[in-house]
Amino acid sequence: MKTKILIALAALSLATAALAVNEPAIIPQPQSLTRLEGSFKLAEEMTIYTDAAAAETGRMLAGKFRQATGWQFRVSNQTSPDGKITDGILLTTAGADAALGEEGYEMTVNTNLVVIRARTAAGLFYGAVTLVQLLPPEMCSSSAANGQIAWEAPCVKITDVPRFPWRGFMLDVSRHFFNQDEVKQMLNTMALHKLNTLHWHLVDDNGWRIEIKKYPKLTSVGAWRDGVGFGMDKNSTTAYGPDGRYGGFYTQDDIREVIAYAARLHITIIPEIEMPGHSLAALTAYPELGSGPGPFEIPLKGGVNPGIFSPAKPEAFEFLQNVLLEVFDLFPAKYIHIGGDEVPKEPWKKDAACQALMKQENLKNEQELQSWFTRRMEAFINAHGKTLLGWSEILEGGLAQNAAVMDWIGGATEAASKGHDVVMSPTSNCYFDYYQGRDHTEEPRAIGGYLPLEKVYALEPIPAKLAPEFHKHILGAQGNVWTEYIANLKHVQYMAFPRLSALAEVTWSPKTARNFEDFTRRLKTNNQRLEQMGVNFRTYRPETRTLIGGWKPAQIKSEPAPLEWDVTKLVTAAGNVRVSLEYTAGACGIDIAWVALLADGAELHRDAHVGFTGGSPRQPVYSLTVPSPKPGVHYTMRAQVSGSGGTDSTGNVFWDLKPLAK
Ligand code: ACM
Repeated sequence: MKTKILIALAALSLATAALAVNEPAIIPQPQSLTRLEGSFKLAEEMTIYTDAAAAETGRMLAGKFRQATGWQFRVSNQTSPDGKITDGILLTTAGADAALGEEGYEMTVNTNLVVIRARTAAGLFYGAVTLVQLLPPEMCSSSAANGQIAWEAPCVKITDVPRFPWRGFMLDVSRHFFNQDEVKQMLNTMALHKLNTLHWHLVDDNGWRIEIKKYPKLTSVGAWRDGVGFGMDKNSTTAYGPDGRYGGFYTQDDIREVIAYAARLHITIIPEIEMPGHSLAALTAYPELGSGPGPFEIPLKGGVNPGIFSPAKPEAFEFLQNVLLEVFDLFPAKYIHIGGDEVPKEPWKKDAACQALMKQENLKNEQELQSWFTRRMEAFINAHGKTLLGWSEILEGGLAQNAAVMDWIGGATEAASKGHDVVMSPTSNCYFDYYQGRDHTEEPRAIGGYLPLEKVYALEPIPAKLAPEFHKHILGAQGNVWTEYIANLKHVQYMAFPRLSALAEVTWSPKTARNFEDFTRRLKTNNQRLEQMGVNFRTYRPETRTLIGGWKPAQIKSEPAPLEWDVTKLVTAAGNVRVSLEYTAGACGIDIAWVALLADGAELHRDAHVGFTGGSPRQPVYSLTVPSPKPGVHYTMRAQVSGSGGTDSTGNVFWDLKPLAK
């Protein structure tokens, strides 16, 4: 009897497991998906049939299948003698609907046959990615699976077209350097999500990363600095040169290799060559091109650094244009990103030649001088058949004629209404260098901010105030990993995932198909795929903390004094509460003597450990016992704090109550 029950239970759990494997968990969610009866079984020696346009995708798919299963697959451009294919996988452009456009595909998975149809190689590739995602996560492994895997895909019918043409990821390789193999690994993860644009932030104050033959000092000087900087542990990275200096760069051959690798994954790489600001690495190598006397030096910190090109020097234009000529030769992309953000204007204000130029050109202020500079660069870029792309600030002082804008701090509505193309990358939803969780004791140090998964998923790329006739100018969106505090690939991956998975759905899936709860269900499978690929990610957990208030400089004294918050509404059950004090801004943090819970002014419980919240927090989380709430009682939380080396501190206080088990 007992054995029978055990067998029945085992059979039931097997059936449940099979069902779980078979439930489609595609990210980004396709435009339309209908589940059909049964499943398709991948088999050894199976044939992938292709027409000419599909041959490369067919070979890639066979390679992927071979890697994960250890089996052989045939790729054939021959159909069977009667022209009919009854089993295997067919990738074809024949009969593909015009509505599929440049990147769409349709596919039917039947019990014996998978047909993927698209008008382009990109569409076929995305269909193949979907097929990989319909199969078990082990299909994403780069080595043959150990043990028995049921290589089955649920039968489905899918029609899928992306919502936006720009589905992007930005990687900053200047603040910290990531070599070409690491960039390729990020490209692999992008391809899994049908992302199609890598914005490669190749230069900034802290390092110049692209070989320019005409100016060898850009990399011999500009690619190296005296340490990892940013207060990072020297062991957090391996990017040291033979002489022990921190840095690195890509040779032009490396760049070509990465571009070709990306192209096979249908990813376009947009290079960013920052000008006229964020240019200290270039000016350290060629100080004569800068505004102001220098000396210029590669900094070991981020932020807005002085050291900008001088628009009053013809040789600066000549230099930047020569650099761009080599960049144009390497990158086939239509766009060239020239940065333009956060240009400190002080150097130009103090520079007599710049002031004379402004007078001569009738420019009212330094914003207009930047605009004048950008227009000149744009004329050169356009003359070479390329389109200039720049950050929000290129709008200040007047936008260049054909320029496209990358919105990080606004400007999308204004630019798109004037007919300029725009990529959305607002700090509010797209800055993946921000914290993913509110409890900083559980997260690696980040630049600041708070960008939970929900907020990325909630991004609507079309600005609310943009008139419908201009919606077409919103090309899409991208997530940015700035790397001031990120010195190795595992950490990049942790910051990118799962937020980049959410952004993939924002940019690909129809707005009406978005559903966060279903997304988190599919995310569990997607994370298994990342695990198979050896990619690090943060496991999503909903935020359980409530913001109860904060403090401002005016409330902070140099001697210990109490701060108080009303928590009456939060005392909902007996339990234990973790109270976190988190510094958010200011020149100094606060020392914390104790934190206590009070009922009608009488202290109930106190945690009297000494804490600090500021640049490097020390135990700023307090644990308090919470009683069952009594009606009519007023509960407050009190913290005894003092400014640490000053009183200019701002911060938040969070409440995280874990009720006692009943
Ligand atoms: C930027 O984050 N400075 C574009």
